[in-house]
Amino acid sequence: MKIMSLVGLAGLFLATNGFAQTTLKAAFKNDFLIGVALNEAEFTGRNPNAAAIVKAQFDSISPENALKWESIHPQRFGFNFGPADAYLAFGQKNGMFVIGHTLVWHSQTPKWVFQSDQGSRTVERKRQPVDRDMLLQRMSNHIFTVVGRYKGKIGGWDVVNEALNDDGTLRASPWEKIIGPDYIIKAYQFAHEADPQAQLYYNDFSMENEAKRNGAIALVKKLQAAGIPIAGVGLQGHYKMDWPTTNQVDETIAAFSRLGVKVMVTELDLDVLPPATSSQAAEVSMNFVLQAKLNPYTNGLPAVVEQRLTQRYADLFAVFVKHCDVVSRVTFWGVTDADSWLNYWPIKGRTAYPLLFNRDCHPKPAFNAILQIPGASVP
Ligand code: XIL
Repeated sequence: MKIMSLVGLAGLFLATNGFAQTTLKAAFKNDFLIGVALNEAEFTGRNPNAAAIVKAQFDSISPENALKWESIHPQRFGFNFGPADAYLAFGQKNGMFVIGHTLVWHSQTPKWVFQSDQGSRTVERKRQPVDRDMLLQRMSNHIFTVVGRYKGKIGGWDVVNEALNDDGTLRASPWEKIIGPDYIIKAYQFAHEADPQAQLYYNDFSMENEAKRNGAIALVKKLQAAGIPIAGVGLQGHYKMDWPTTNQVDETIAAFSRLGVKVMVTELDLDVLPPATSSQAAEVSMNFVLQAKLNPYTNGLPAVVEQRLTQRYADLFAVFVKHCDVVSRVTFWGVTDADSWLNYWPIKGRTAYPLLFNRDCHPKPAFNAILQIPGASVP
């Protein structure tokens, strides 16, 4: 026990000074990349404390919002490359594997994408929906412009995000409704043509549940049958304390590995707050009213909850390490608890504790716990 806590303290010390040896990326270097999602303050240097953690601990980055359609292509003839360029420069400067997230999604995509130029320019509801050919043209233009700009620099793309319903059927998104189900194949064809070397991924949440997983397996098989070189499937990993079980995670990774694709955990965070809904979906459109009982830890996390979080992280990492031949990356959705989207989703104004670094930028007990699981090569 004494020895463990000394090791823990050493980890804490090493992680907070600039000469860390016991870092996440070092501990898992023989297993998988350790990634983190960055917000603009982190990759532009406005948040130097979080940026220092990123440089010390992580060897892959994902853009939390900067490469989403609404950020990079807000107007039909207006791209906004500044933040995305800064994000890439941060990754290149620090020798990181840089992820692109995401090209085709129903959320955070401006309305104009799905509306025809015909009809009223000022009264939105009078605009007509765009037709299949025009939407395909817009999708192609977006993908060739964005993927083309970062060709050879962004190593892997979440091409299509969240195309499936919980029951495994295809989501009736504007993409699906206007283009038809083949919009998915088209998106991967355009992305592959725009950068033949880039890895192409399918990314979604709740694939640990069997029905949705089966839908995703069918989708991957369809892409493979169409000759798309799909490299991997991203499990978002927006997990709760009691869902999914480690068995579900284990089975899910095994199921995708049988298709010959890599598996990534792409947006890992663990929600310890009381659930606002019984839904396990990470639907960004969800929005519930703030109530005190749903925000119980405004003055800090009770020790017993911290312990449960620590154990849960250790249990999940044991599964990831077990499958290190197929798991190629584990990416956290934020650097510190202060950065997490769970402070404002699905309820605005809560105090969340889902990550490995606390609001003071110090590593939490979960950080030390995952460094000590068998398979992590702690020096
Ligand atoms: C989230 C971001 O973290 C938030 O800042 C933003 O307001 C909404 O989107 N699934 C995804 C991510 O694929 O892009 C989402 O990110 C979280 C759910």
